[in-house]
Amino acid sequence: MSQPDTLTHDVIVVGAGLAGTWAAMIASQQGVKDVAVLSKIHPLRSHSGAAQGGIAAALGNTRPTPNTGAEGPLEPAPEGEPADSLDSHVFDTIKGSDWLGDQDAIEIMIKDAPQVVYEYEHMGCVFSRLPDGRIAQRRFGGHSAPRACYAADWTGHVLLHTVHEQALRHGVKFYSEWYCMDLIVEDNVCRGVVAMNILTGEIHTMRAKAVMFGTGGYGRAYKITSNAYANTGDGVAIAYNAGVPLLDMEFVQFHPTGLYKHGILMSEACRGEGGYLVNSTGERFMERYAKSKMELAPRDLVSRSEQQEINEGRGGEADHDAIYLDLRHLGREKILARLPQVRELAIDFVGTDPIDQLVPIQPTAHYSMGGIPCDVNGQVIADAQGTPVVGFYAAGECACISVHGANRLGTNSLLDASVFGRRAGYAIAEFITGGAKLYPIGGDPADRNRRRVQGFMTNPGKESVEKIAQELKTTMTNNCGVFRDGERLRIALSDIKRLQERFTHARVMDTSSRFNTDVLAALETEHLLDFSEVIVAGALARTECRGAHWRTDHLGRDDKNWLKHTMAHKRSSGPELSFKSVNINYEKYPPQERKY
Ligand code: FUM
Repeated sequence: MSQPDTLTHDVIVVGAGLAGTWAAMIASQQGVKDVAVLSKIHPLRSHSGAAQGGIAAALGNTRPTPNTGAEGPLEPAPEGEPADSLDSHVFDTIKGSDWLGDQDAIEIMIKDAPQVVYEYEHMGCVFSRLPDGRIAQRRFGGHSAPRACYAADWTGHVLLHTVHEQALRHGVKFYSEWYCMDLIVEDNVCRGVVAMNILTGEIHTMRAKAVMFGTGGYGRAYKITSNAYANTGDGVAIAYNAGVPLLDMEFVQFHPTGLYKHGILMSEACRGEGGYLVNSTGERFMERYAKSKMELAPRDLVSRSEQQEINEGRGGEADHDAIYLDLRHLGREKILARLPQVRELAIDFVGTDPIDQLVPIQPTAHYSMGGIPCDVNGQVIADAQGTPVVGFYAAGECACISVHGANRLGTNSLLDASVFGRRAGYAIAEFITGGAKLYPIGGDPADRNRRRVQGFMTNPGKESVEKIAQELKTTMTNNCGVFRDGERLRIALSDIKRLQERFTHARVMDTSSRFNTDVLAALETEHLLDFSEVIVAGALARTECRGAHWRTDHLGRDDKNWLKHTMAHKRSSGPELSFKSVNINYEKYPPQERKY
């Protein structure tokens, strides 16, 4: 059979979520003629669209009603008297990150935030509004002011639709249902990707002067996750396999309110709007863990508190691994106006209506703080000294800049994806219009990947991909979850090694070429195995508690030894760790004890 031709573009963006689409839209708008986006699913099904509660920006449009205390009802702040500040947003984010976030990058993200929100507004985004027309803002965990701009609980959905329309308007070409399999990097210069057209099964080399990854997170390494089926961390694994190191992979965020057994997101906006968390005795147990912030403490702290309640037998009576979200006191009208999607999800998936029933929930793997290391313009770096991988950019959840450090605050992810996707778009445009070259490619990377697929079809072994994936998720959940210790992490590592060996005997049943989801599952599972080993290796090495990484055998944060990023490099024996310093402004934001 003759093989399809190599395809060529100036810029190839992989991933059609907010980060990728912003980058593609801006690069086109800035005069790059030939920008293409590859998406393994329909672009508008990208996981950015599942973010519910809001995007953070210190607009200061709302404030607690005077005399009701910081947690009281909100009212519009008087015009010209903003009830929030950039400094406060910066500090909250640094504290939320448990001082592992790079403070220069955090300042840039927060400074860009109002501008990005207004750009969304000017593009026609349907934000919820105050009576005077300003953008409404609600509370979120770890933020000391109401700064989540929202569209009911459909925020990610409306942002994604808005920016997608603009990308189309600017002439971006979308390859829908194309799966990126490989990144081509030679001599530290990125030259393109290898991708499969899922519909036909054809595998193409795709050359480009610049490649950008906005491939999303890796929550699918866990059994209970809020992440879509597509979030298998492909980009992170592909970059790692191409020789790019990974940063801070041990930091995985567990969102406190995943629907029981399903993991589906019940937005933190439920608590931002005043919802409670209760245990089997009806107690608002957060009083014992975070007296001042209660349910609006940051996610790492709330998830640990829930897990402790569950572990100590105060979870649900019938549903032992559950705790409860109580929205009943918010009233029907508010739930229907502000939280319509979460209500529908609770009714559809667990058969309870939050208007008059408790919703069973549990911590759910939600967000990947770690990822592909890059600078504030999306330029991917190859080492702790910041050596660029020429022509390779990343932004959004697959990237680690690092603005979230050890724990991200809710609503800072739509912000991160938008701000740094946009910045990457400008940087890519400058790179291309400044005379970037199309570099030659050695060998036949497409053929190498065709043989990879053939291998799954002809393998004499009989291992099931699905079984391996399930066993991986089980060990990651049981041994590298909300609470961790050396013994369980070592079990996880040896399980992964064993599963990697078994995977070499994996065989798929479907040997056809068109829309072969068996092959896709095999490729995704290979990626899950690759980066899960890095998560566990980082978690095992980091003998302290920081943000979402909680070692019960090494209690306390250890700034003396661990105020540093881990950088994992792929070696034949497994990940090798090196370290990168954290950018801290010791005069302005010196590390402090983190209390809520
Ligand atoms: O809870 C939520 O609505 C999720 C938001 C986020 O992860 O930023």
